[in-house]
Amino acid sequence: FHVDWDLVTAEKAGFDHFMLKEIHEQPKAYRDTMMSRVSEDGKSVDLKELGMSSDYIKSIRKVQIVACGTAFHAGLVGKTVIETLARIPVETDVASEYRYRSPIITPDTLVIVVSQSGETADTLAALREAQRNGAKVLAITNVVGSSVAREADFVLITWAGLEIAVASTKAYTSQLIAFYLFGLHLASTLGTQNASAVAEVIAAMHQLPDQVESILAKSDVLKKVAESISHHKHLFFIGRGIDYAVAQEGSLKLKEISYIHSEAYAAGELKHGTLALIEESIPVIALVTQEELYEKTLSNIKEVKARGAHVLGVANEGFEEEAGKSVDELFVIPKTLPLLSPALSVVPLQLISYYASLALEHDVDKPRNLAKSVTVE
Ligand code: G6P
Repeated sequence: FHVDWDLVTAEKAGFDHFMLKEIHEQPKAYRDTMMSRVSEDGKSVDLKELGMSSDYIKSIRKVQIVACGTAFHAGLVGKTVIETLARIPVETDVASEYRYRSPIITPDTLVIVVSQSGETADTLAALREAQRNGAKVLAITNVVGSSVAREADFVLITWAGLEIAVASTKAYTSQLIAFYLFGLHLASTLGTQNASAVAEVIAAMHQLPDQVESILAKSDVLKKVAESISHHKHLFFIGRGIDYAVAQEGSLKLKEISYIHSEAYAAGELKHGTLALIEESIPVIALVTQEELYEKTLSNIKEVKARGAHVLGVANEGFEEEAGKSVDELFVIPKTLPLLSPALSVVPLQLISYYASLALEHDVDKPRNLAKSVTVE
């Protein structure tokens, strides 16, 4: 028994919890997921491993992304990635709802299931439903040989490595990398992006691991933010566009391990009801990484501030001065392409959740009522 304990300590490699270790493993997970899938000159993506023919890609008229929990949130980003890069319409569904809404699945629909474990019952059932209706299924999964990987028509493995903490971190960000790679692959095959646009995205992707390191180096600031958040019962995450997708993941992460109630809201939608909940000193975490949407989001920040909210902004470099004027506290993330920002902006949110859970003395790696993999429907 003593040996087991030592083993666990050894596996944590000096970190207090698996979650913190896994957060720190993200730069490696990004590199490993990209490795050998980007050409030697770094200008194009090579996904021959999928065995997906160009003719098949050209026949795809619609994509449906189906997943649960954090993997679903990766799918929300995936939707924007595929629609932006490849101009194919994408629907997203949580897997437990998919089969019951009579989804329109045709042979020219590509269904993408996303699952860290590859064993989630609802996701597996969605995969089978899609195939029954004649669609092909691409699985984005972290486990080679999992049920989802075995049954799908195409498999894209995320090389995040074993994820032990119930709250998913490196698996989520590796799923984002997988979506970037696949989106670029579609775009190159369909000719929706030219070679220089593709090369620009890849070059920016190569910078992500070091950029994540630079965020991790500022963990102390986030620890303080988390400690002050831990005194609150409710908070909000707001953002627009792809920032809204990240807000949803940030909110889920916080709920999972700190048990603090939070809601993620599309920043522009607050005024249609939820603004009524904003009261003196309530924390609001606002993501402001999309240049096109800066002004609109800043005006939503003013709306909540006017009602007494305490706003933490997460904005990217180059915008710190302007954003700084509108928020109470600002966390600056390195500059990247707007489409890639989730791979950076989620990291401070993961750390805030981690430190909030720690401050509240919860079991970070094994939150109450939750399981790492849910094999019942
Ligand atoms: C469980 C986990 C979540 C996870 C979800 C989907 O609910 O607690 O962290 O996101 O399942 O898991 P999967 O393995 O399919 O990605």
